Amino acid sequence: MAESPPLRPVGPRRPIRRLIAWVDERFPLTETVEAHATKYHAPKNFNFWYYFGVLATVVLGMQLLTGVWLTMSYVPSAEEAFASVEYIMRDVEYGHIIRYLHSTGASAFFVVVYLHMFRGLAYGSYRKPRELVWLIGMAIFLTLMAEGFFGYLLPWGNMSYWGAQVIVSLVGAVPFVGADLMEWVRGDYLMSGITLNRFFALHVVALPLALVGLVFVHIVALHRVGSNNPDGVEIKDNKDEHGVPVDGIPFHPYYTVHDFQATVGFLFVFCAVVFFAPEMFGYFLEKPNFEQADPLKTPDLIAPVWYYTPFYSMLRATTFPLFGLEARFWGLVVMVAAILMPAVLPWLDRSPVKSIRYKGLASKVMLAAFVASVFVLGYLGTVHTTPLTTALAQVFTAIYFAYFLLMPWYTRVEKTKKPPERLT
Ligand code: HEM
Repeated sequence: MAESPPLRPVGPRRPIRRLIAWVDERFPLTETVEAHATKYHAPKNFNFWYYFGVLATVVLGMQLLTGVWLTMSYVPSAEEAFASVEYIMRDVEYGHIIRYLHSTGASAFFVVVYLHMFRGLAYGSYRKPRELVWLIGMAIFLTLMAEGFFGYLLPWGNMSYWGAQVIVSLVGAVPFVGADLMEWVRGDYLMSGITLNRFFALHVVALPLALVGLVFVHIVALHRVGSNNPDGVEIKDNKDEHGVPVDGIPFHPYYTVHDFQATVGFLFVFCAVVFFAPEMFGYFLEKPNFEQADPLKTPDLIAPVWYYTPFYSMLRATTFPLFGLEARFWGLVVMVAAILMPAVLPWLDRSPVKSIRYKGLASKVMLAAFVASVFVLGYLGTVHTTPLTTALAQVFTAIYFAYFLLMPWYTRVEKTKKPPERLT
């Protein structure tokens, strides 16, 4: 019987190995790939909730790409912006797809980021040693909110105009300097082409750069401390004789495949929305925005896009003046406080365990109440105010803040379960 030829060593062929060796002498390529992928050990029990970090990265890439293509045909001036968007939609080849990918991408961004943040709340991912990962995440969240806000003015539709008008005029409520501040933000005495130009510069250059930089440091910080997991048990506390966590698996190939699968699934859903419901019944693209900005015609209802409405509701729910300052000012304070509140979570949670799986009933009830408050406030922000909706918004604003402010108490007094020694 003929002898079988010797087996080729596993891995790249010799010319490629030589090329990699050549690069390695000049740049830490293999070192980086090993440190962050093939020898980076992540907990073996990631579940559905661990898809959204990578999906946020995918959406970020998609927004950058479609944004560049939109900028090729968009004209940032009050006279031509609206018409240039219509031109993209009707005349530019595949322009309508690119525009819908970008407008739907904005909503998708917030969907995945909100789910990503919820995962952090549920599994205590904000707790030591991941405080900085969380804080960088908060900086990303604020930048994303600003990015969405500046982008929304660009089509120069009537809701773009009036939405920005309402939010910019909020700074007018700041005592003493409000009026000057408002003029400084707008660059004019009213919303104008000058405002549009600066929002354009921030939306296409400054904030995307900031976002990319922040996401980079977010991942670097995460890889320093390692990922949390649904059990909230630190895998680094249990290593084998080679210093490898016994409950960890290499990120590549296990999680690269897992994340690829998630990306394909996500793109199916995303494309279905882009192709069949890009306006999402007025939630992703609002009806008044199909008319050009008109300073003389206020839309029947001025409401921001869905991802801001929980905070907008809290703003509108603050109806009482205090200490001689008008209600609008306190509305601004409540809204800003609500947005910033999650940043202090690492110092509010006193529970001996991280994950909601092992926390007590109080934490579970409070988390559920918090999620409910976000949904109800989100809905209330999309409808006209009545005495009933205002009262409801006040109650749910109180619930939203109670989740955070009562946390030091209920996480300390409740009875928790003992987490497992090894991952389940
Ligand atoms: C553009 C937006 C964002 C991107 C691209 C992004 C990306 C990622 C990625 C790729 C991971 C690792 C995979 C995973 O755990 O899912 C991660 C983890 C994490 N992110 Fe983000 N993120 C973003 C926004 C945020 C925000 C807004 C927060 C919170 C305020 C946040 C907090 C965290 C935390 C705490 C972890 C560690 C979670 C754990 O280990 O359990 N991220 N992020």
